[in-house]
Amino acid sequence: MRPSITVDKERCVHCGLCLQDCVLGILAFDADEHPHYVPGGESQCVGCQHCMAICPTGALSFGEKNPQNSTPVGYGNSDDLLQLIKSRRSVRHYKEENVPEETLRKLAGMLPYIPTGGNADNLFFSVIATREKMDALRKTTYAKIQAMPNPSGFQLAAREAFQQGKDIIYRGAPAMISVAIDRTKTIAGCETADPIIALSYFELYAQSMGLGTLWCDMAVTIAKQVPDVYALLEIPSQYELNYTILFGLPAISYARTIQPEMFSVKMLR
Ligand SMILES: Cc1cc2nc3c(=O)[nH]c(=O)nc-3n(C[C@H](O)[C@H](O)[C@H](O)COP(=O)(O)O)c2cc1C
Repeated sequence: MRPSITVDKERCVHCGLCLQDCVLGILAFDADEHPHYVPGGESQCVGCQHCMAICPTGALSFGEKNPQNSTPVGYGNSDDLLQLIKSRRSVRHYKEENVPEETLRKLAGMLPYIPTGGNADNLFFSVIATREKMDALRKTTYAKIQAMPNPSGFQLAAREAFQQGKDIIYRGAPAMISVAIDRTKTIAGCETADPIIALSYFELYAQSMGLGTLWCDMAVTIAKQVPDVYALLEIPSQYELNYTILFGLPAISYARTIQPEMFSVKMLR
């Protein structure tokens, strides 16, 4: 059963902030000015927990989630964030070693905080977390490509590179995260955005911890073309692969930022 809100009536100061901020407007005051769901509201609740997050006195809980277990809000330093965004690079050279367990744990722990349209619980993440497992993926991928009777341009390029000892698909990375979307829980328009938002957050957080990352269209393409490769991602059948990022400890470092061409930005006033 879906969790619902509970109110600590001793703590509630009747400020109404939870009512104002409720995404669907499904909270109202009862006769004693404590928040409760309007009739039918409980079943509509998307579990965004804005009510718990905004309550100044910590009077609202959501199922087993209570304010004591939340982190105080903090937005960090915007200059640091901009510096990270500017410094982030696509990394195609990785060290041999695996990503440390603690780093993997932190990355996985960040993922639930990404925004999704409608607060849908609609994503599945498959993380190939060791070089051994990545090597198994590489082995299957290139064996299948070698055996293709009529390879496409991309497959031919990958095959030729492999014969020269180059892994142009996975770039020798020791780890890869794939995001898949639940086919049964699509929210119009959001199913394309949600997975990419998730991996964008993942990339920045990973690079902030000193990891290299590479968005990898080639890995998505080959997984969709070759069922044996797709199977290695162990994505449950109700989900569909959307995108992948390779990651690992970088074997290179960049000394300075690039100087990109500007996009057209029109300020409308
Ligand atoms: C959605 C997306 C898919 C990408 N797919 C690949 C890929 O399959 N292989 C690859 O080597 N680079 C891939 N890249 C990396 C881009 O080529 C890279 O962004 C470009 O080289 C610019 O470098 P920078 O990210 O360091 O600014 C991809 C990037 C994005 C955003």
